[in-house]
Amino acid sequence: MRVLSGIQPSGKLHIGNYFGAMRQNLKLQAENEGFYFIADYHALTSNPDPTELRQNIIDVALDYLALGLDAERTVFWRQSDVPEITELTWILSCVTPMGLLQRCTSYKDKVAQGLTPNHGLFAYPVLQAADILAFHSELVPVGADQKQHIEVTRDIAGYFNNTYGETLTLPEDHILDSVAVVPGVDGRKMSKSYDNTIAMFDGEKKLKKTIMRIVTDSTPVEEPKDPEKCNVFALLKLVAGEDELSEWENKYKAGGMGYGDVKKRLAELVIEYFRPYREKRLELENNLDYVNGVLEKGAQRAKAVAQKTLNDVRKAVGL
Ligand code: ADP
Ligand code: TRP
Repeated sequence: MRVLSGIQPSGKLHIGNYFGAMRQNLKLQAENEGFYFIADYHALTSNPDPTELRQNIIDVALDYLALGLDAERTVFWRQSDVPEITELTWILSCVTPMGLLQRCTSYKDKVAQGLTPNHGLFAYPVLQAADILAFHSELVPVGADQKQHIEVTRDIAGYFNNTYGETLTLPEDHILDSVAVVPGVDGRKMSKSYDNTIAMFDGEKKLKKTIMRIVTDSTPVEEPKDPEKCNVFALLKLVAGEDELSEWENKYKAGGMGYGDVKKRLAELVIEYFRPYREKRLELENNLDYVNGVLEKGAQRAKAVAQKTLNDVRKAVGL
């Protein structure tokens, strides 16, 4: 199956991104034809600083390659290196009813948070539809928060095909729900926009400091605690083996355990878990020519597919 996935270069990637999306995407590449890209056009909707954006793009590339993206097998590129996507976005915009976009909850959420929306943010789902449809993607693995965007993509493809004849492939979503939402250090969903993340490629000291900051309740040390209500335990589930996890579960329930102890262990486990990836990332940081080469080769492969779709689409609409 052709699997497509995009990730925004909007800040340091964190363990919520990894356990919530990237790890599953990396698994999927083994048995599928992977098309993975860095969604830099999407990142522009939040008006990033240009220097920061440039750095974030390279950081995502380094992170993904360090975490195991197989650049031989999987097509990996920078969205803006394939400008055909923006042409397709325009053509799709012209079959997209306003109401469809007005119903999108991620847009409404951002406006509710006080963000002054630009047209790009409103049109964001159409750009995402173009990403997916340009490559005739069959499967799009996304977190639950993105499910609506895949439905919108299917709707847009349907409108297009009904109007101009069968041209575009309707994708299936593949909801990555094997891991519940990963909590951040303040207990809310871990997110770059909440400044509550544990970034796996931070230095060991910083990681420890961040993990020690995780918010817990004020149950005294001697009293029993409910692991299922604890942010530290939720994170421990991601990195601890089964036996160790059930030991901690017992300690929580028995009382006599301080949150400081479990946090310390969590920090060790997170550091251990990402150690080989951190080493790989350092290697890649010293070999940026290789990384840029991967993205350029990926862009050529992606372009070839997108151009073919664009030819069909232009012909279908009469251009
Ligand atoms: P952020 O909220 O940090 O900006 P994104 O919205 O860019 O993260 O998310 C990129 C991917 O990572 C999405 O597929 C999303 O579902 C997943 N993801 C992000 N944060 C979490 C989380 N806390 N738990 C699980 N998955 C997450
Ligand atoms: N909107 C997605 C996110 O924030 C990123 C993205 C852009 C994407 N284009 C895509 C994901 C196409 C899947 C398919 O996570």
